[in-house]
Amino acid sequence: MGSPSPLQSLAPRQLRQLVEADEPGCLTSYIDPPKFRAGMRHLAGACSVIASCSVGRRAGLTATAVCSVSAEPAQLLVCVNRSVRAHEIIAQSGLLSVNVLSEAQENIAKRFAGMVIDVAGEDRFANGDWRDGKLGIPMLDGSLVSFGCRVKDVIPAATHTVFLCEVVEVVVPAEDGKPLLYFGGSFARIV
Ligand SMILES: Cc1cc2nc3c(=O)[nH]c(=O)nc-3n(C[C@H](O)[C@H](O)[C@H](O)COP(=O)(O)O)c2cc1C
Repeated sequence: MGSPSPLQSLAPRQLRQLVEADEPGCLTSYIDPPKFRAGMRHLAGACSVIASCSVGRRAGLTATAVCSVSAEPAQLLVCVNRSVRAHEIIAQSGLLSVNVLSEAQENIAKRFAGMVIDVAGEDRFANGDWRDGKLGIPMLDGSLVSFGCRVKDVIPAATHTVFLCEVVEVVVPAEDGKPLLYFGGSFARIV
């Protein structure tokens, strides 16, 4: 073990003063949203389409806020804005699929992000090979991997909801592909 950093011996108040002096305001509870968004542009994300279905109504959104939680049991989490149409459908059905997009699926990412004019709701599913998985929710063939999930916990988080999900189905195609990323405000690829 190395020697402790001099910062570790500081009282919390002293540490706070030190950081505040370096960048005033950075430790207050309020961070300017544009500043936060500018910071988040540096975090590369893998793009997925989150899809769900409730009483025959399908809905989906493009998302990067997807994260593995544990392998035993298999769990992941997804953060969805409460204003997105799919939010209500996921909340009603308690089911969702996570379809991790390949670099060849940028057009699908745009459709499900509301970036294609006049394509909304059910029309978003007109592109791509969608089929019902074991849970009866849409799964996208040709994704790098698709996870069929049951929502285990719903955690409100300001404008968003964190859906903690139990994975009950994993579909991996025979062929590998490369992921579709989002970085610096644009879709990106691994070269
Ligand atoms: C690359 C990218 C990542 C996104 N990630 C998320 C996300 O993790 N959660 C979320 O709620 N919205 C996310 N969005 C925004 C939604 O895709 C968008 O608001 C949604 O498709 C709107 O659906 P609606 O028109 O049905 O409300 C993302 C958009 C893009 C372009």
